[in-house]
Amino acid sequence: MRMRFGLLGLIASCTASADEVTYRNDIRPLWQQKCMACHGENAPSLAEFDENKEKYKQMSLGPRMDSYANLVAFVGWPDTGALMRRLDDGTNTKDHKPGNMYENLGTDEAERQKNLALFKAWVGEGGWFLGKLKEMDKATLMKMKVAE
Ligand code: HEC
Repeated sequence: MRMRFGLLGLIASCTASADEVTYRNDIRPLWQQKCMACHGENAPSLAEFDENKEKYKQMSLGPRMDSYANLVAFVGWPDTGALMRRLDDGTNTKDHKPGNMYENLGTDEAERQKNLALFKAWVGEGGWFLGKLKEMDKATLMKMKVAE
């Protein structure tokens, strides 16, 4: 009896999270396809990148984002909003132009929109915040989902 309850509980919790966008199931594979070439393990850390931006830009390398922790740093802290500013399609940017990483989301507009929607669902619609750390409030932070 106890066993059955345990199993049912497990099944229930699996279905409950089945439609939740997670790093492991959704973002990591997309990142490998679209971002890894320039933000992978041979890319510099954010600190190294910041010290030598021009050099790395010429090598077509951005800061390393090759793990959950390294990617989340560009969502919440310390590089608050960077991922959203770069990936937004222009709907939420100040100049209404897409962020310069938007084009990397896909080869055509349909694919870019589909993959942007995935990133948005992962970060959370209410947490899709394009500002800097000093402009962010706790309510916005609490809306960031970024499930691992
Ligand atoms: C062709 C290489 C390339 C690809 C592919 C690429 N990026 Fe970049 N990315 C760069 C370079 C180079 C920079 C640094 C120059 C700049 O700021 O534009 C950068 C900068 C960034 C930044 C800003 C980092 C900071 O310092 O604040 C973010 C966020 C980012 N990329 C996210 C992504 C994501 C997410 C993807 C996949 C959808 C992606 N990039 C795909 C080359 C790339």
